[in-house]
Amino acid sequence: MHRDVTGMNTYNYGEALYWDARYIQEAAAGSFDWYQRYSALRPFVRKYVPTSSRILMVGCGNAVMSEDMVKDGYEEIINIDISSVAIDMMRRKYEHLPQLEYMQMDVRDMSFFVDESFDSVIDKGTLDSLMCGAGAPISAAQMLGEVSRLLKPGGIYMLVTIHLKIKLVLQLFPLNFLQLKCHDMPNCYL
Ligand SMILES: C[S@@+](CC[C@H](N)C(=O)[O-])C[C@H]1O[C@@H](n2cnc3c(N)ncnc32)[C@H](O)[C@@H]1O
Repeated sequence: MHRDVTGMNTYNYGEALYWDARYIQEAAAGSFDWYQRYSALRPFVRKYVPTSSRILMVGCGNAVMSEDMVKDGYEEIINIDISSVAIDMMRRKYEHLPQLEYMQMDVRDMSFFVDESFDSVIDKGTLDSLMCGAGAPISAAQMLGEVSRLLKPGGIYMLVTIHLKIKLVLQLFPLNFLQLKCHDMPNCYL
């Protein structure tokens, strides 16, 4: 048995149990990319992230973004998610693609990786999820601290978010990657 997620509100977006239940419930529907598909984001990704980059995709869910990036020439993408259900499904789905690796992990504690492990971290909707959950400011601070620690000097944190005030939020944190560049996108899927 798993929880009925239909009656839940966005406060649950910060919980592994919620996401596990949701990915079980939606398994038959296949993949889903929140906000935007890679095709729409491609101009920004290609502009800021070279294809030779070692990339960490945080909160990958069951999105096809990483697959599309590999088809576009990206060579190494480590995907993490707090949901073991999503990670197990994705690992099975992409076992034929050596460019993709899937690991169950909480973005608030990525101590598995040593400092400055990645050229780029891509986040589509994951900081947004944490900001919905209980203890949001602490969770967001922990996550951003870890992202900052894992980026090489000059590394890129690409955040795809629906929060209009995200720039203000990011400026609250004393991080070493705060050279912000913001781009607006016209549509998004929720
Ligand atoms: C809004 S979905 C976005 C999924 C995917 N990035 C996309 O663009 O479709 C947020 C994802 O973040 C994951 N998540 C939530 N809290 C997390 C945490 N603390 N650590 C790692 N992943 C988390 C959820 O399991 C979910 O897959």
